[in-house]
Amino acid sequence: MIFVDACFGKPTSHTPVWMMRQAGRYLPEYMEVRAQAGDFLSLCRDPEKACEVTLQPMDILGVDAAILFSDILVVPMEMGMELKFVKGEGPLFPNPIKTMEDLDALCIEEAADKLEYVYETIRLIRGKLAADKALIGFCGAPWTLATYMIEGQGTKTYAIVKKLIYSNPKFMHALLRKVTEVIKIYMQRQIENGVNAVMIFDSWAAALEESAYFEFSWDYMKEISAHLKAKYPHIPVIMFPKGISGYLDKIDGDFDVFGVDWSTPLELAKEKLGDKYVLQGNMEPTRLYNKDAIKEGVEKIVKTMDNNNRHIFNLGHGILPDIPVENAKYFIKQVQEQTKR
Ligand code: CP3
Repeated sequence: MIFVDACFGKPTSHTPVWMMRQAGRYLPEYMEVRAQAGDFLSLCRDPEKACEVTLQPMDILGVDAAILFSDILVVPMEMGMELKFVKGEGPLFPNPIKTMEDLDALCIEEAADKLEYVYETIRLIRGKLAADKALIGFCGAPWTLATYMIEGQGTKTYAIVKKLIYSNPKFMHALLRKVTEVIKIYMQRQIENGVNAVMIFDSWAAALEESAYFEFSWDYMKEISAHLKAKYPHIPVIMFPKGISGYLDKIDGDFDVFGVDWSTPLELAKEKLGDKYVLQGNMEPTRLYNKDAIKEGVEKIVKTMDNNNRHIFNLGHGILPDIPVENAKYFIKQVQEQTKR
């Protein structure tokens, strides 16, 4: 598998490329299957349909890896929290965690069991996906998940969760501990059911000052990756803490690939982490609106990485819903052509 080889820095015929949110709303084929399923969460819970949308970008775009179709928020949902996706507004937990009783009510083992529909989706995809294409499994970082669980929804200021970390850090750590334990079992099961690599998304990393970031987020992510690497050394682990370019000096741990977001200069990530970790990223997603911008963006990144074997091409965050499919195809083709070795 070219993707897995690249995660370990082994030589490949070209730099493998895939896109965050590659199975999503910019594809008319996705919109059709989502409409059949009813809504987004029903699609996540329907293994046949989730398998179908996972495979769509493989055929349509010719990407080098598939990413499991699901969402990071199914974990807190199956820990016992009601979850809604409100049209045009994103995810909502109507009853966020407020008290010790709320925290005690969250389950661990049962949550990992209830996620059986994800494991079934993985088995179906692995049965249909070409043998040389990797399937990437994923989860949210405990910090990002706990932020949603405390705030109830996306937030600009993170006021509720940050008030908590400074006024009752013990409570926050107890929540992070529970989420971490579920994630460890969940990722083990994703691997045992057939994913070939795993990625941990820390979308809200940039909300924290440096010391708080390491205490409340990175240390838990590192614990999860160390746990997985000890059990499954052949499965690459990709870490994606979004927006922490100022903290790269302190990044360490047992993992294989560091996901670089678009706001972090790739040169900087290469200088600080490129010898220790393979880098993934980091084209600015809105370059996909314009073909000249795509070509130029790919050229810049190829040049920065010296077209070597220590890079996986990706966007620096998810593809936006109104990107023309033709431009997404052009991006994938540009990477595969420009990095041919
Ligand atoms: O193709 C893939 O990348 C795999 C599937 C995937 C989804 N969500 C599908 C999805 C993955 C890996 C995620 C991760 C995810 N989910 C993250 C981390 C990555 C990131 O973007 O920072 C986060 C923070 C979430 C939570 C979430 N899910 C939000 C904030 C939203 C709404 C925002 C939006 O884009 O509308 C979702 C919904 C969601 N997850 C969609 C998809 C395809 C859109 C749902 C739809 O069909 O309407």
